[in-house]
Amino acid sequence: MCGIVGYRGREGAREILIDALRRLEYRGYDSAGIAIWNKGTVRLARRQGKVSDLAEAIEADGFDGPMGLAHTRWATHGVPSERNAHPHTAADITVVHNGIIENYLELKETLKGQGHTFTSDTDTEVIPHLIASLLSKAGSFEGAVRSALRMLKGSYAVGVIREGEDILIAAKKESPLLVGLGEDGEHIIASDAPAIINRTNRFIFLEDGDIAVIRKGDLKITNLDGDEVTREVRSVQWSGAMAEKGGYRHFMLKEIFEQPRAISDTLIGRIEEEEGEVFFEELDLPDIAKVRKIWMVACGTSYHACLIGKHIFEANLRIPVETDIASEFRYRDPILDRNDLVILVSQSGETADTIAAMKEVKKRGLHTLAICNVLGSTLSRECDGVIYTHAGPEIGVASTKAFTTQVSVFFMLMIYLGKRLNVLDSDDARRLIGELRKIPHKIQTILDASSSIEDTARENMHYRHFLYLGRGINFPTVLEGALKLKEISYIHAEAYAAGEMKHGPIALIDENMPIVFVSPRDQTYKKTCSNMEEVLARNGKVLLFTDDARHDMAKRIDALFVVPESIYELQPILSVVPLQLMAYHMANLLGTDVDQPRNLAKSVTVE
Ligand code: G6P
Repeated sequence: MCGIVGYRGREGAREILIDALRRLEYRGYDSAGIAIWNKGTVRLARRQGKVSDLAEAIEADGFDGPMGLAHTRWATHGVPSERNAHPHTAADITVVHNGIIENYLELKETLKGQGHTFTSDTDTEVIPHLIASLLSKAGSFEGAVRSALRMLKGSYAVGVIREGEDILIAAKKESPLLVGLGEDGEHIIASDAPAIINRTNRFIFLEDGDIAVIRKGDLKITNLDGDEVTREVRSVQWSGAMAEKGGYRHFMLKEIFEQPRAISDTLIGRIEEEEGEVFFEELDLPDIAKVRKIWMVACGTSYHACLIGKHIFEANLRIPVETDIASEFRYRDPILDRNDLVILVSQSGETADTIAAMKEVKKRGLHTLAICNVLGSTLSRECDGVIYTHAGPEIGVASTKAFTTQVSVFFMLMIYLGKRLNVLDSDDARRLIGELRKIPHKIQTILDASSSIEDTARENMHYRHFLYLGRGINFPTVLEGALKLKEISYIHAEAYAAGEMKHGPIALIDENMPIVFVSPRDQTYKKTCSNMEEVLARNGKVLLFTDDARHDMAKRIDALFVVPESIYELQPILSVVPLQLMAYHMANLLGTDVDQPRNLAKSVTVE
C-alpha cells in the first residue's frame, strides 16, 4: 500500500528519497513520484510504473536539494497513471498522502466553487488545495496545514512542503508514519522503519493527531490544537542488512530460508525446557481463570495462523476459541463478553481492518493482545499486551516467516496459559517445549532437501487450476498453501477441508486438475487416503506432502514430498514450508514479479 518518505537534512535529498522508495516497493504500488525543494523552489517528477523508471526520469535533470518528499502509490481513487501519482500540488503547496479522505467529494465541490481547478481523480488532491485556500486566514503554513487536517474525514499519513518555506510537515491519523532521527540533525519521515533503517535506528512513531514540524535540524511535534506533545524515541532490533536480499533472487525465497533462524529468534529467552516454563516479559493479561472464550482475529495469512492457533488452544486448553476475519468481525456486532480475551494477529501491525477490529474491542472494554512482528506499529502500541514474533523484516508481499513465527507464538502462548490454568503440568510443558525446540532444525532439513520441489513446480506450472486438500489442523495449512500459489503465480488455487471434497470440488476433478494433499500420520490419515483414491479414480493428479515416507499411497501418486514428523499441533509449521517453496518456484518459473505481485500490497492500510 502507498509508501511515503520525506527528508530534511544536509545531504542531497534526491538519492536518499529514491533509495527509500526502493525499500518501500515491497508494500505494493503502481506509480511513484518525487518532489525536491531547493532554496525555495520545488521540482516534481511522477511516473506510472516502477521506481526505477522514476529514477531514470530524474537522472538527467540533476536537480537536488536538502529537502523533499517521495511516494509510491497503490491506486484507490483513480486509475494508476502519471496524473494520479503523488505528489499532488496546488499553488505553492506539495503533498504526499497515504490513506483515504472520505469527504473529498464534498471538499472538492466547495473548493471548485472557490475557483480551484483539479487535475487528478484522487482524493488526495483536495489536501494541497485545502491548505492553499486556508493560508491567508491561518496566517502561516503550519496553521493552514493544521486547519486543513481538522477538516479531513478518513485516514491519512501526509508529508507537506511549500515553495519558499524551509519546513517539512508530517501528520498522521490511522495510517502509519514515523520520523527517523538521523546524523547531523537530519530528519526522515517514512511509512515504515525498513525504508530508512540504513540511515538511522532512532525513530519516533507518530500517533493519531500528531503533526511533526521539521525545520533544518529541528523537530517539534504538536497535536491538532497546536499543543506540543512529547513522544518517545525508540529503536528496532533490525539492521539495514536484514532488509536486503542477501544473495537470494527474491526476498520471498530469502524469507522462506530464514525460517529456522526466525523461529529460533522468536523462541529465544522465552522457553525454559528443563523447568517447563514459557516467559513473555511484555505480556499484560487479564485474570486468565475468568476467560471463558478467546477470540483470534486477523486478515490474510495472519488469519490462517489464527485458524491453527484455534486447534492448538482448543486441543490443549479446552477453552472455546472463535476465529474471525477482521473485516467481518468489525461489522458483524460480535457477541463479546467483558471477560473474553481477544488476540489480534498482524505481521505489520498496520492492517486497517485489524486495527479497526481492535478499536471495536477496546471500545467495549475487553482486553486485547497483539501478536505482531513490527515493533512500534499501531497494533502493538494500542493493544493492552503484545507478543512480538521477532521474525525480522518481512519484505516479500507473500507472507512466509511471519506465518510460521505466529504459529510458534500461539504454541508458546498455549503452554503459558495452560500452566497458569493448571491444565498442563510441568511434564506436559517440558514435552511440548522440547518438540517446539526441534522445529528450526526440522525446517532446515526440509530446506536442505527441497530441490525436488522445483522439479515438481516445473512439471505442474502449466496447469491453471489447483485444488488443495487437508483436514483438521492441516486445513488451515492448505488454505495458506493455496493462498501462496494464487498470490504470486496468479494460478487459481482453491483449498478445501478434504472431507468436503465430495460435497462439491469432486465435480472439478479430471486429468487437468492437480490436487495437493497435506496428509501427515494423524487421526485423519486413513480418511485422506480415501480422498486420494477418489481423486485417482477420476484421473486427477495427486501431489502429496506428508511426514510418512512409506505412505500407503506413495507408489500410486504423481509427486511425494516428505517432511519430518512432529506432534499434531506443530505439523503445519513443517508442512507449509514445501507449499511455500512450490508456490515460489512456480511463480519464478512463470516469470511473475514474485516480491511485488500485481494488485497486492504488503500492508493494507486502507479499508
Ligand atoms: C496483505 C498481505 C498479506 C498479509 C495480509 C495481512 O494482504 O499481502 O501477506 O497476510 O495483508 O497483513 P498483516 O500485516 O496484518 O499480517
